[in-house]
Amino acid sequence: MSRFIGLPAAQFMENAMGMTLFDVAVQIRALRLGKARLRTAVVGADPGFMANMEAYQDLVLDHAAPDPGLLPQSPEAEWRFGFNIFAGPPGDKYRPSRTLAELRPEEFDLIVVADTPQREPALAAQVLAMIPEHQRQNKCFRFSHLNNAFAAVMRALRQESYITTMNSRKTAVLACCLDLACSGEGEILESGTFMGGSSILMAALLKVWGERRKVHGFDTFEGIPSATKPDGTTVFHAGEFTQTSLQLVSNCVASYQLSDMVELHKGLVQETVPVVCERLKSIAFVFADTDQYAGTRSTLKAVLPRLHSRGLILIDDYFEHGVRRAVAESLAENPGMRGALVAHSLYSIWKNEG
Ligand SMILES: C[S@@+](CC[C@H](N)C(=O)[O-])C[C@H]1O[C@@H](n2cnc3c(N)ncnc32)[C@H](O)[C@@H]1O
Repeated sequence: MSRFIGLPAAQFMENAMGMTLFDVAVQIRALRLGKARLRTAVVGADPGFMANMEAYQDLVLDHAAPDPGLLPQSPEAEWRFGFNIFAGPPGDKYRPSRTLAELRPEEFDLIVVADTPQREPALAAQVLAMIPEHQRQNKCFRFSHLNNAFAAVMRALRQESYITTMNSRKTAVLACCLDLACSGEGEILESGTFMGGSSILMAALLKVWGERRKVHGFDTFEGIPSATKPDGTTVFHAGEFTQTSLQLVSNCVASYQLSDMVELHKGLVQETVPVVCERLKSIAFVFADTDQYAGTRSTLKAVLPRLHSRGLILIDDYFEHGVRRAVAESLAENPGMRGALVAHSLYSIWKNEG
């Protein structure tokens, strides 16, 4: 019987959201590491999270066949993740596993630290000290740092001033990629901002994390331009996305007290993105969401030379002909970059050495 029975609905939703975020965050790291299966250890002493992890482990690993999800299937990928939970005192029903002293980092591809906001930084430092320095960035990540910020931001968003074309799964992917990319230096760009929802979400996450990075939002703020030949039979045509304006998005941003963190740039991204990139030393994360060849191609051309070695680019509407073509051409021009489909219609690009 499920351990979730009896939880208040709001708590259940937050737990479910946390587990989705966990799943997405681990999947993205697996793709980035080029592995179908990650041997994952979870370290923490937060009983709520550990109870969830245990239930998740039962569900995903012990009983269910792996869903035909995003990771390439192979015979050894019978389990998508291999978990070992290192937690509090052995013998506790919900913190049943092993002590931190027993953790052998070399046995794992990923070590997830998940604890209360008060304890997590010190615990992460302890875990990092156990990992050789050159492997630290890739091997260890702070899940509650991501999850708590995501839950807080989602709770604070208001219907009238947070408008986005992103569904909840895509939003989780965006948050995970931003978190991952923030291990690198630089600013954040959203090419194709529309009504500002994703720029607001990213700036609000950065604010909760205490990150002083800027989010640059780019759009015509008058609607999508005409499609061009490489877009083929696209569903995105001039006359769409017109229900926005620079003033409207500025007001939405201001309503969250984020005006000092979000800079909006009006015009064709072919013109605005290269100009802004000229003055940026480094770029950590780019969300490219213009839906068309011209916007995607010019954005990638301008940002790739300045992408930090641990940075990331996330591209929406990858199933659009023009977007796919722009990505393929950009990757062909930049052999140092790698890319993969990380969720339905979302493609990510990063540097090989990242
Ligand atoms: C799907 S919407 C973006 C949604 C937004 N990223 C979100 O998360 O809610 C696509 C946006 O890209 C903009 N766009 C597309 N091509 C562009 C171009 N070449 N220059 C400027 N804006 C462009 C459109 O005006 C439209 O607002």
